[in-house]
Amino acid sequence: MNFAFFDTKPYDIPAFDRLGKERGVQFKYYETKLNEDTVELASGFDGVCVFVNDTINAAVIDRLVELGVRVVALRCAGFNNVDMQYAYGKIHVLRVPAYSPYAVAEHAMAMLLTSIRRIHKAYIRTRDFNFSLNGMTGFDLHGKTVGIIGTGKIGQVFINICKGFGMNILAYDKFPSKALEESGTVKYVDLDTLFAESDIISLHCPLTDETYHVIDEASLAKCKRGVVIINTSRGALVDAEALLSGIKSRKVGAACLDVYEEESDLFFNDNSGHILEDDTLARLISMPNVIVTSHQAFLTEEALNNIAETTVDNIVGFFENDQCPNELCFRGSSAEDCKSGKCF
Ligand code: NAI
Repeated sequence: MNFAFFDTKPYDIPAFDRLGKERGVQFKYYETKLNEDTVELASGFDGVCVFVNDTINAAVIDRLVELGVRVVALRCAGFNNVDMQYAYGKIHVLRVPAYSPYAVAEHAMAMLLTSIRRIHKAYIRTRDFNFSLNGMTGFDLHGKTVGIIGTGKIGQVFINICKGFGMNILAYDKFPSKALEESGTVKYVDLDTLFAESDIISLHCPLTDETYHVIDEASLAKCKRGVVIINTSRGALVDAEALLSGIKSRKVGAACLDVYEEESDLFFNDNSGHILEDDTLARLISMPNVIVTSHQAFLTEEALNNIAETTVDNIVGFFENDQCPNELCFRGSSAEDCKSGKCF
């Protein structure tokens, strides 16, 4: 089992090397992302192992199939970067449905606390022996209302963390969890109510046609003045221009962004010596009440090990045991949903 591993970062290699050697999977590591220009690098491999900013569109799928590549092994949960409908019947797509919901949910809370208690400002000030507290007033989370969009694995962990802070929880999900509602953990409401009543809104749903720009000018208009927006899910859930306008007009009190719609050419790379072409991102980063991290919410030791373990399990299951419960199929969110074992 030979896999071309795209968009490799140094922190990916130790766990994949160790587990690959143990289970008979060879990885050839490429720093470049997979896209139409780089797909030839997959020649001679059984599969490709890809991450969130690799592009697996129709052209890439066609070429992979021509090259004899049978499997796309995503080492992430989200799969909005794969044309699933086009892939069906041509190439198998495996993913890691969960690796550490705690990593992402805890990062969301870390960003929220940093932002509203001005920790990012305090860190800079005290390093310069500036011990003034002017402009550092925050607010208590206790008693505030947080609106969670998407109550899956990560959303639920975030809900529990927020409960620990004594917050009121509102939630919206296309497929609400009966168990959550019946346990009294959350109150499901429609999106308009969530926008109108939340002090803080945190996004934990996948990026789909329906959720694209769920935070935009119209939804921000329905929000409370001073609302805090947290996005650790996918960049295109938020219309960044609308968010910037909201920050400028003081409608948005703070924004915590681990993802950004146009992140693919910037995030994960050191661009410190370059001129940033993206004016919207540059302006957002310049704001004192905006915190941007570069898609780092997943990055914990535990998550990296789980990602490597599940990816290698998926590959070995597919090639040796003829089964992979983590195969994706556009007819359902997973092979389990469409009850067909291997999807085609
Ligand atoms: P999950 O599949 O467990 O939960 C997603 C939830 O969103 C489900 O409850 C689903 O019913 C709901 N949903 C689906 N369509 C919806 C819609 N139109 N409106 C509202 N809710 C909808 O996924 P999980 O593991 O909780 O991950 C959530 C998202 O977090 C992923 O889709 C991914 O984009 C992102 N993520 C980000 C990471 C990071 O490092 N920043 C790492 C891992 C995931």
